[in-house]
Amino acid sequence: MSDAAWWREGVFYQIYPRSFRDSNGDGVGDLRGIIEKLDHLEWLGIDGIWLNPTMPSPNADWGYDVSDYKGVHPELGTIVDLDELIARAKERGIGILLDFVPNHTSTEHMWFKDAVKERHSRYRDYYVWADPTAGGSPPNNWLSVFGGDAWEFDEASGQYYLHNFLDTQADLNWWNDSLRDEMDDVLRFWFERGVAGFRVDVAHAVVKDRGLRDNLPATEEDDPRTQQLGQQHTYSMDQPEVHDVIKRWRALADSFEPPRVLVGETFLLDLHKMAKYYGTGDELNLAFNFPFVFAPFEAEALREVVELTEELLPPDLAWPVWAGSNHDVLRFPSRWCDGNPARTRVALMMLLTMRGTPFLYYGDEIGMPNTELTHEQLLDPVGKRFWTDDKGRDPCRTPMHWSADPGAGFTEEGVEPWLAFGDHGACNVGDQRDDPGSVLSLARALIGLRKERADLRRGAYATIASPDGTWVYSRGPSTIVALNLSDNEAVIDEIEGTLVASTHPERAGEPAGGALRLERWSGAIVSV
Ligand code: GLC
Ligand code: CA
Repeated sequence: MSDAAWWREGVFYQIYPRSFRDSNGDGVGDLRGIIEKLDHLEWLGIDGIWLNPTMPSPNADWGYDVSDYKGVHPELGTIVDLDELIARAKERGIGILLDFVPNHTSTEHMWFKDAVKERHSRYRDYYVWADPTAGGSPPNNWLSVFGGDAWEFDEASGQYYLHNFLDTQADLNWWNDSLRDEMDDVLRFWFERGVAGFRVDVAHAVVKDRGLRDNLPATEEDDPRTQQLGQQHTYSMDQPEVHDVIKRWRALADSFEPPRVLVGETFLLDLHKMAKYYGTGDELNLAFNFPFVFAPFEAEALREVVELTEELLPPDLAWPVWAGSNHDVLRFPSRWCDGNPARTRVALMMLLTMRGTPFLYYGDEIGMPNTELTHEQLLDPVGKRFWTDDKGRDPCRTPMHWSADPGAGFTEEGVEPWLAFGDHGACNVGDQRDDPGSVLSLARALIGLRKERADLRRGAYATIASPDGTWVYSRGPSTIVALNLSDNEAVIDEIEGTLVASTHPERAGEPAGGALRLERWSGAIVSV
């Protein structure tokens, strides 16, 4: 693995295509809209884009129910548009990652339709079928992540099929060799079209226990996110054999020139388990770090996750990923920062100064908060189902705020967006772009500094002891990052150098002579 691989050194940006920019005034963001906004992304300084699903889908789970792995969803555009996006991005040094959803297909996929129609279909075994128990109930106790049993009965064949998500998302059977070949072919198809890699949906979950054994009940030690389902994913996810499948994908990705990148959605709340998905440098190139995402925004908690990650993913073996927002977990300016811009600025400084690859979610660069929606406005099946205690994922999927104009610069004036607008008057690209004190200016300056300073891109991380509520670390030989995540002013001793960036931009250039004073909720990068 080359030290300077572009995906290690760069900053990624996640786009939810339906919500980025609508180029044809139908209220739905599209690929041509993304092409129109490449100027913004180049100006911001990002190196790679991950696009949420772009393939045809009945949209029961907004693209995560794929009905054709080699196409483009007509609402988003055509394959010609996607080719053009890849080419235009490439001209600007930006690589495009697509979303690969190998765990399940839509029940509208041709394979599934054929598998249900005909028990002897060549596609039957592409899915996980099992007979009812003697008493007629589902084959085992597995529960769907989205609620209810993970099994759906098919009257015609008298068997159940497995769905770890919606009943219209049928799990694929990764024990089947033809399926493996078929999916290699899908990856090859896109690699040949020039995609720089894939984000792999629920990468850790694709292989199921061969004997379909019952999951064990959750215990008090289990994270609430598993306990809420009442059981562990003992046999339904994170099986030892999944690593063979990932190695196979990696070998394929590496066989292209330049090698393609695989970023896994390793939704595991135990870092030891997550770290295994890097293999010995022969599995995922990057694996999302959910314990970090879900850590409270407190110096100690974050530092602990980072220190353990550093220990488990040493620089010569593996490369971490840092993100605070995505299309499932809500936006960090709300989740971590309660809409307080000072906190958002510190969070951005943290994300953009770690050892590892940062992933910003569209809107993070302007501190865009979650949008409050009514029950009637929801489109996410999870939000609709669990409304009382969980508003689901729509609050972080609303259209990008480009401007304060009607239409938010997302679509034409008077057009109803597919999902309601947030308060784009209060927070938008247009108002922030030329304001040196804006969140956007800070995000851009931090990305720029990463490009300038090799320390920030590849320098080793080391914690430096500091007062409670603060977090100080060095990156490489000559860069120190000092963050104050508390309501009190703090002083960090024994730092000699010059501030090269600050969440308070007027402080950049200031000398740090022995004692660095940090305002409440602020951060500084010091060249020493
Ligand atoms: C992943 C996706 C999520 C989707 C689920 C099922 O967790 O990020 O949006 O609902 O997989 O495909
Ligand atoms: Ca459109």
